[in-house]
Amino acid sequence: MSSPRNCLWIALVPMGLTFFRFSEGREAKFSVKQGQKVASNALHLAHLSNPNMSNVMCATYCRITDDCDLYQISAVDNVCAISKQENKFDNSVDLITDPNYTLGYIHYKFPVRDGPWRLVFRVQGRVGISAYDTWRDSTVHHDDTVGGEFPDACLSLTDYAQCDRHLRSRILDNWVDIQEVRYSLIKNGVEVAYIVFDGTNTDNLSWFSQSRILQSSWTTLKTDPDVRPLELAGICSSTVSTCRRFLVWENFEYCINEFFYTTIIESTGDSCNSNTMWVVRDLSSYPVILFAPGTGRGTLSIEQGCRNRFGETPICDYWASRGECSANPGFMEVQCRLACGLCSPNSCTNTYGDTPVCQHWANYGECANNPSFMEIECRLACGGCAPGETFDLGQEADVLAVWVKFA
Ligand SMILES: *[C@@H]1O[C@H](CO)[C@@H](O)[C@H](O)[C@H]1NC(C)=O
Ligand SMILES: *[C@@H]1O[C@H](CO)[C@@H](O)[C@H](O)[C@H]1NC(C)=O
Ligand SMILES: *[C@@H]1O[C@H](CO)[C@@H](O)[C@H](O)[C@H]1NC(C)=O
Repeated sequence: MSSPRNCLWIALVPMGLTFFRFSEGREAKFSVKQGQKVASNALHLAHLSNPNMSNVMCATYCRITDDCDLYQISAVDNVCAISKQENKFDNSVDLITDPNYTLGYIHYKFPVRDGPWRLVFRVQGRVGISAYDTWRDSTVHHDDTVGGEFPDACLSLTDYAQCDRHLRSRILDNWVDIQEVRYSLIKNGVEVAYIVFDGTNTDNLSWFSQSRILQSSWTTLKTDPDVRPLELAGICSSTVSTCRRFLVWENFEYCINEFFYTTIIESTGDSCNSNTMWVVRDLSSYPVILFAPGTGRGTLSIEQGCRNRFGETPICDYWASRGECSANPGFMEVQCRLACGLCSPNSCTNTYGDTPVCQHWANYGECANNPSFMEIECRLACGGCAPGETFDLGQEADVLAVWVKFA
């Protein structure tokens, strides 16, 4: 057997993941207002005069000019004037009314992907800002920020180590003509899971629904009969310090057998964290973006160790003695695992004997990060005698990106 260090090292190399290439180029779009112009001509960067001056012509001129984010066209003399203007339509102290002018503003410059997909929301893990509150905050429009004020790292899907905030587009407050929504989880710069929703006739909350799923890396999700209604709000309670947002999970036995596809933890604790094999142990910072790593559901929390339910009562032993383990395996294997002899030493040990190394690795999340190694070598430490011996523990993503495609 090779040394554990080697095994761990090999297991750290991502395998079998689909690589997506994100375009880091920013795409510009323009909003137009009639009857306003920039108050001070001194702000203009340049002019262009053409008797056939059109909105598209002037917008293009702005777009290809460094620093330009605002343009105006005069109907009197057909002059296109372009400017750099920090306060856009929302804060238009620098604008004045004049019916002879049309004003255009570069509306967003977020990354695009595969052509039609536009980034409208991006969550950076563990930055101490609630992703859900940001989604709900209709005063936050980072697409009003152009010219580098918004950190490039927070627009990137591959190089985001320096990102310290979430990104929210005004498209969330103007949710019209949305055809599809792509919900995409990114880890180490790679899209590790996604869901595409049918966005037609939805609003900025209702698109997040199982019945609207068109496609997903979780092939079971669309038809999984046990999935609870998808909710951006999720469950969030300060009294039990549990806050799970953007929640896609199944009906469950609380803290015992919880299966999920994805969620974002927005509390510095979780009521299941202490007494079960919980998917993530470090909840000292949030949001923690979690996802099931395979093509099916993953485990959010499972009962640790190998035991009988029903506490210390002898009921499991009684049933086992009556042959129920073979007569009712579906029930007994889950409820009376110990009594049915399913916790054989062979299936429930750490390879490294009584040394604490397995538990140490498990505490550092290696059960989730290196399952192929840990499931064999540290089965016990990874909760290997839990019902069903489920090892597909959720993993933590770095970034959630929500994209839309317009009709
Ligand atoms: C304006 O449009 C007319 C008709 O399309 C064209 O003949 C003319 O050359 C254009 N003028 C300029 C300056 O582009
Ligand atoms: C708009 O243009 C018309 C015709 O050129 C002119 O009479 C009018 O004063 C202009 N309006 C403003 C507000 O400057
Ligand atoms: C959804 O859009 C409405 C406007 O249509 C806006 O008032 C509301 O704040 C938005 N909700 C969220 C969650 O962004």
